[in-house]
Amino acid sequence: KENGYESWLAYLPKSEVTKSNYKPFLKNIVLPKKDSVVVNSSKEELLRGISSMFQVELTISTVFEGTSNIVLATADDLEQVDGLIDTDKVAQLNSEGYLMKSVPESDSIIILGKTDKGILYGTFHLLRLLQTESSLQNIDIVENPRNQIRMLNEWDNMDGSVERGYSGNSLFFEDNRFVRDWDRIKDYARMLSSSGLNAVAFNNVNVHEVESKLITPEFLPDVAKVADIFRAYGIKTYLSINYASPIELGGLDTADPLDENVRNWWKEKVKEIYEYIPDFGGVVVKADSEHRPGPFTYGRNHADGSNMLAEAFEPFGGIVFWRCFVYNCLQDWRDRSTDRARAAYDHFKPLDGEFNDNVVLQIKNGPMDFQVREGVSPLFGAMPKTNQVLEFQVAQEYTGQQRHLCYLIPQWKEILDFDTYAQGEGTPIKSVVDGSKFPYTYCGITAVSNSGNDENWTGHTLAQANLYGYGRLTWNPELSSEEITDEWVKMTFGTDPVVVKEVSEMLLGSWRTYENYTSPLGVGWMVNPNHHYGPNVDGYEYDRWGTYHFADWKGIGVDRTVATGTGYAGQYFPENAEMYENVDTCPDELLLFFHHVPYTHKLKSGKTVIQHIYDTHFEGVEEAEELKSRWSSLEGKIPPMIFQGVLERFEHQVEHSKEWRDIINTYFYRKSGIADEKNRKIY
Ligand code: GCU
Repeated sequence: KENGYESWLAYLPKSEVTKSNYKPFLKNIVLPKKDSVVVNSSKEELLRGISSMFQVELTISTVFEGTSNIVLATADDLEQVDGLIDTDKVAQLNSEGYLMKSVPESDSIIILGKTDKGILYGTFHLLRLLQTESSLQNIDIVENPRNQIRMLNEWDNMDGSVERGYSGNSLFFEDNRFVRDWDRIKDYARMLSSSGLNAVAFNNVNVHEVESKLITPEFLPDVAKVADIFRAYGIKTYLSINYASPIELGGLDTADPLDENVRNWWKEKVKEIYEYIPDFGGVVVKADSEHRPGPFTYGRNHADGSNMLAEAFEPFGGIVFWRCFVYNCLQDWRDRSTDRARAAYDHFKPLDGEFNDNVVLQIKNGPMDFQVREGVSPLFGAMPKTNQVLEFQVAQEYTGQQRHLCYLIPQWKEILDFDTYAQGEGTPIKSVVDGSKFPYTYCGITAVSNSGNDENWTGHTLAQANLYGYGRLTWNPELSSEEITDEWVKMTFGTDPVVVKEVSEMLLGSWRTYENYTSPLGVGWMVNPNHHYGPNVDGYEYDRWGTYHFADWKGIGVDRTVATGTGYAGQYFPENAEMYENVDTCPDELLLFFHHVPYTHKLKSGKTVIQHIYDTHFEGVEEAEELKSRWSSLEGKIPPMIFQGVLERFEHQVEHSKEWRDIINTYFYRKSGIADEKNRKIY
């Protein structure tokens, strides 16, 4: 398996010098009193990682004595570590947290979790320290995940396809049944857990006919098998469900959420699910969205719909993730008042306080759809009485489809750090979704996964960094992009400083590069309709799903102001609303998302809009070329198959970036009639 299968868990063999530094610590594992599948996973991972990196076979014991121990303990094993750890710190741990402490006198390391889950996360932390060759001296760490829900949504269909999947087929399904490669699912669970994730919904949010039956006895035994695998890695299993199940599975003639028969049908159904999977997490629901059924059909609202399900799940502790991706997808271009960006807020904000405690609204990071650049959703912080999770897209649907390099951690950082002003200055989105500002029962972060059954999981091997980084950032949004990147590169490719520097810099600048040659100043959607790959300025604009940029010969951009536009800007808290409303204070990078301006409009950078479009498109291609040459310079330092596979993607990226440049530049040159100041080739 030389093509990236081992991912960041490759546990690359260490040099002799490194080995001698760590060897004193690596002799024996002390297990906690109470065994569990999660403890077993921790033990297996330590054995695997340490034997691979150090060629040392650890022994196992249950008593902490002598030297060179890795002590795994829970709050039940305190007497083992009596006097060695600060018991006040144990009290600071939550159910997934851990503390790690080195005991230099006996060359030992203690990993103590409040529960076995903490042991698992602590184990991966220790392995990461070894992989990145960080010191084990003087370790004294307390770690709790900042977000309670740290989830992935797989958009997998049972025929084996993956909606918006760019890495082969499903890891879970083939030919309308479950795969038989359970080992691969286990390796996937290891990857997710090592990055800090704790929840997976593994079928597509668009739940088609066969997938609707995942909650029936035909498939529940297989769902339970997946849940067994995930459970051993601290991950809860969820499913996406079809809102119309009472009709499609139950033979009822309605799915009206207020109908007694419908309510009872769901109660029985949920009871049945829990007979197979006693710790089932719950469900994800895409209702009244892009032609999916939902409560609107029956004249009911989203609180009615979600609460009905929530009631059925409540006795079992299950959660209902209810997606806010609800908008009118058939907008007429003549209608200037409808604005897709407004839709989620308009539908959901008035319902604040009406949702049950185990309903969680699932809100995409932006009001549109995972564009290269868009504003943040104004719903964050706007519903103090309603549980929220933020939804990112790790899959690169609009960001190069894992053929282009586009490292999204810097984008996610910007979003998480965005100050909503929901409780005045200092209410960033990360503090909304981690529950520290509002008394949410459930909250956190979820994301559309980017993995599939390609040997290297993510198609582009460097796209693994998005998956890893997503988990790490979700565990701790305070980590910097640089820290996360440095970890991933070292874990995946080793610690050669040249590789670390080159690959890190390449990753960190790649989102900006992709933005440069694709999406100027917050304009999105200039992609080919349906598959969303490659440039097509009017593909959506002149389609019935439009409209998105309103470009004509005089100007470009969508007027979303309150004064003269759709009013979207007014959905933010006043500080942000004012900033976006005013063309002079609206940041350049979102100018065309909020304003319609002439091509000669001067940006804060001093350039005109049209010159900015030309310049960024030329620069973007140069940067793509540089990415390719930097990667080429690493030949011999990266495993050959990975090197070759990534090189081919860069070759494609360079050619495709030229296509983007030329199509966008010529389009706006011909629309505006304004020449490039630098007189470069524009067709
Ligand atoms: C996007 C994507 C769809 C997906 C939808 C969703 O529109 O293109 O494939 O179904 O998002 O998030 O539900």
